[in-house]
Amino acid sequence: MDDSGKRIDGKLVSADVVAKVAQETKKLIDETGVIPGLAVIIVGEEPASQVYVASKGKKAKECGFHSVQHTLPTDTSERDVLQYVRDLNEDPAIHGILVQLPLPDHIDENKVIQTIAADKDVDGFHYTNVGKLGTGDLSSAFVPCTPAGSMILIRRVLGDDLSGLNAVVIGRSNIVGKPMANLLLAANCTVTIAHSRTKDLSGLARTADIVVAAVGRPEMVKADWIKPGATVIDVGINRVDAPERGDGKTRLTGDVDYEGALENAAFATPVPGGVGPMTIALLMANTFTSACRSAGRDVPQF
Ligand code: GUN
Repeated sequence: MDDSGKRIDGKLVSADVVAKVAQETKKLIDETGVIPGLAVIIVGEEPASQVYVASKGKKAKECGFHSVQHTLPTDTSERDVLQYVRDLNEDPAIHGILVQLPLPDHIDENKVIQTIAADKDVDGFHYTNVGKLGTGDLSSAFVPCTPAGSMILIRRVLGDDLSGLNAVVIGRSNIVGKPMANLLLAANCTVTIAHSRTKDLSGLARTADIVVAAVGRPEMVKADWIKPGATVIDVGINRVDAPERGDGKTRLTGDVDYEGALENAAFATPVPGGVGPMTIALLMANTFTSACRSAGRDVPQF
């Protein structure tokens, strides 16, 4: 199907964001000598996490950042992980710290996240940043990368003024659903958060001008859940069997039946190639923002 008029191309938009970060980084370094520094800690050998972390390091170098990666064995103690975080908190060459999740079971994830200095928490998971987003203090917060990237995609197709639009966010996670709802609220949308206990979910979704699906259930959102003319943002990344591609093959799919949704939607993000590439681009933008703040410079909009 030709989806070119309706597809929101996350690859394209993320490349724009990264190009702007790289350009602004060059200016920052030329004018102040400050080099944005990103440190990523990964504990264990989860293959998917290894792939994500490698691509974060690669993108950071592309932006002209100082990039550090600490790869720690699975049996690293919580104490040692906390000490790595504290050392990075004190390191003036580092402006952004990201601890790749999930962590092994013997490590308290929340304890690690809350140990990251709030002003280096480029994931936006620290209570200070969650609170700033919740109270609308967006100019000094770090906003979680996936919702922040989703907002950029929405504004690319709907423009800056989202006032009065009905938004339904399906999913209530701390990483996506809740911060997404707060961002849409800060943009003057009328926001409903739906979840597994919501009654008449399809009927509720049909009231939405903007649907954000972040539940982790492959192709749960169907064509008839979408109001004609709505904008659909699919945050899901699900690996499913794809016997049509051969024995044992798999493919990635979102939380939305993309082809079906396009029958009604004005715009929708595909999976892959939609929200996914935005997450890493916003990690770069957040790290650059942190470096600007530490240099006392105005922060550009991405
Ligand atoms: N694992 C999967 N997504 C994320 C994310 O956005 N941040 C971190 N730190 N770990 C993740």
